Amino acid sequence: MKKILVIGSSGQIGTELVDGLRVRFGDANVVACDIKEPQVEQAGPFVMVNAMDRRGIERIVEKYGINEVYLLAALLSATAEKDPAFAWQLNMESLFIVLELAREGKLKKVYWPSSIAVFGPTSPKDATPQHTIAEPTTVYGISKQAGEQWCAYYHKRYGVDVRSIRYPGLIGWKSAPGGGTTDYAVHIFHEAIKQGSYTCFLDRGTTLPMMYMPDAIRATIDLMEAPIEQVKERIGYNLAGFSFAPEEIAEEVKRHVPELVMKYEPDARQAIANSWPRSIDDSAARKDWGWKPQYDLKAMVDEMMTNLRRELAPKKRP
Ligand code: SER
Repeated sequence: MKKILVIGSSGQIGTELVDGLRVRFGDANVVACDIKEPQVEQAGPFVMVNAMDRRGIERIVEKYGINEVYLLAALLSATAEKDPAFAWQLNMESLFIVLELAREGKLKKVYWPSSIAVFGPTSPKDATPQHTIAEPTTVYGISKQAGEQWCAYYHKRYGVDVRSIRYPGLIGWKSAPGGGTTDYAVHIFHEAIKQGSYTCFLDRGTTLPMMYMPDAIRATIDLMEAPIEQVKERIGYNLAGFSFAPEEIAEEVKRHVPELVMKYEPDARQAIANSWPRSIDDSAARKDWGWKPQYDLKAMVDEMMTNLRRELAPKKRP
């Protein structure tokens, strides 16, 4: 019987992944845990625990008979630059706890998210390959790259079944992003609806790889459910949705909010964005386990606008 633990369940990915896993495997079979309360009301079990508390995590694994862990707790790129030592500690310690539990035979499978942040200024910018130069210049990227290598090591040396995806920037309406360089692509929708204007912290022409959250959630569960012989990479799989620059998403949003005024005030996140790829070659994921995105930029914008307009509308009193 599959019993799943999602660590970091109240974050941007966790919120939607818990939902997706519960739809597929049942509310009671998916335990959520975080140091923060869930962003939305959830149907199944929730436990407050710190991802760096090995005993705490172990207790949950024992109590609920957990055999699969999705570890999502992390500091993202922009926040990590403000406290590199803590970012390294959180991103690495939490991974070691879970990899060790798997090595000890207490878990059958582990999921750990990587990122396009493993790439750096010396990587090819367009259609960045699965295997290429990866010299990250952010602490977040360094932690993801090192983490990938540890995942591959635990797989090779101890046979741990750990699987990973290099997410591009993720865009969704159900949960708030926190601390990433790609977060502007979520903020723009909220500000367009609320005030008809948005000041972007990245400049025009900053093209980055992005993905709509439902595609990312489907990819994550598909990779975890793929037969083991199809999982050929034990570092993170490259995954692509679509790429755009701030002015391009603004044009799409303007189809829904014609009066939208965009301003550009690049800050420290610009340098991070400049170090990342413009687009990603995900042919390995397509070939190995059948990955295929369903959303393009236009379809994503249409869904984001419809859902957020409903969510942000003043609630009528009963
Ligand atoms: N979306 C992430 C960030 O901007 C990249 O993994 O930090």
